[in-house]
Amino acid sequence: KKGSYDHFMQKEIHEQPHSLTTTMRGRLKDGGVLLGGLKEHLKTIRRSRRVVFIGCGTSYNAALAARTFVEELTGIPVTMEVASDLLDRQGPIYREDTAVFVSQSGETADTLLALDYALENGALCVGITNTVGSTLSRRTHCGIHINAGCEIGVASTKAYTSQIVVMAMLALAIGSDQISTQPRREAIISGLSSLPGHASEVLKLDSEMKELASSLIDSESLLVFGRGYNYATALEGALKVKEVALMHSEGMFAGEMKHGPLALVDENLPIIVIATRDACFSKQQSVIQQLLSRKGRLIIMCSKGDASAVSPNGSCRVIEVPQVADCLQPVINIIPLQLLAYHLTVLRGFDVDQPRNLAKSVTTQ
Ligand code: UD1
Ligand code: BG6
Ligand code: NA
Repeated sequence: KKGSYDHFMQKEIHEQPHSLTTTMRGRLKDGGVLLGGLKEHLKTIRRSRRVVFIGCGTSYNAALAARTFVEELTGIPVTMEVASDLLDRQGPIYREDTAVFVSQSGETADTLLALDYALENGALCVGITNTVGSTLSRRTHCGIHINAGCEIGVASTKAYTSQIVVMAMLALAIGSDQISTQPRREAIISGLSSLPGHASEVLKLDSEMKELASSLIDSESLLVFGRGYNYATALEGALKVKEVALMHSEGMFAGEMKHGPLALVDENLPIIVIATRDACFSKQQSVIQQLLSRKGRLIIMCSKGDASAVSPNGSCRVIEVPQVADCLQPVINIIPLQLLAYHLTVLRGFDVDQPRNLAKSVTTQ
């Protein structure tokens, strides 16, 4: 089943041009979005006071990546809940809420318990899952199957990018009655159609990421700074590195750098800064300047053609990625970080598909 690949994680990373295609198949129609599973519930969702995203691990990060564009395209406030924390707090969930549960397996215990809790509180419960027939799919009022194909590697990769794409389609569908955002929606729809091609393009960084991994093999820690649309990319990139390569790694808000993390910066600690083009670009440029003035060891992810704009004297290692619609950039930006985590794991001699202490589906609390 791995075909020409050594590991499922590697296969699933390289499959993304295809999995993204199957996720969108039959759902982008006549310049609009058609989600069969939501048709009857769109009106209720539009009237809701709040959207609450609920998940664990990578699925939570995917929802975080979607938060900004869901707010932008729907005008509905979005709050984020890690499933276990919602339960610990018994946080408020109301009848007027739309609770969106994101889970690759559809069987994660904390997510299902949070679903029971939201159902008891009378919220409309929507599922986003890769698994037809899963408990999540059955118990939610409605939902969307991400159709990414079976994912076997414990570290989620292709499900993450397909989840973000499904949430983009969800936001487009909810907002489709708004005239003022129509040009924006059209641009995103055309960006979605071009994503598989851009995913193929970014996968060509494979050997470059292997080389970068070999330069990081003995590091004790890796920081990843992101902001805006790509704060989630920082969290998810760091999660990949810690869960499979067993290296301490943390994703951080670049905007919080001065409030603590800056104290860690020296010549040795590798720091990835995500600085692809969007409304936050000039702020990221100044973050880079501040890190360089403290002799930080930087690896900068930027849009193609921006190497000299982010690293003026060529002193930093640069990862150039294709530019897509700003809100879809997280789908592209995570791919080099998945490749990096994969190669780092292999080079460090750890089990890629079955990392120490972890399970693909956590069905106990
Ligand atoms: C459905 C079919 C698909 C077919 C297409 C043709 C299924 C599983 N899907 O896809 O094979 O090609 O119509 O039009 O038969 N749901 C939940 N919770 C979830 C996920 C989904 O309740 O977490 C529900 C949906 O509300 C919907 C059903 O499951 O009623 C199927 O969802 P989905 O597969 O996303 O619908 P379509 O894309 O229309
Ligand atoms: C486990 C997996 O921790 O569950 C992660 O190892 C995954 O990869 C998390 O992100 C949540 O799983 P699911 O199936 O609910 O998306
Ligand atoms: Na259902």
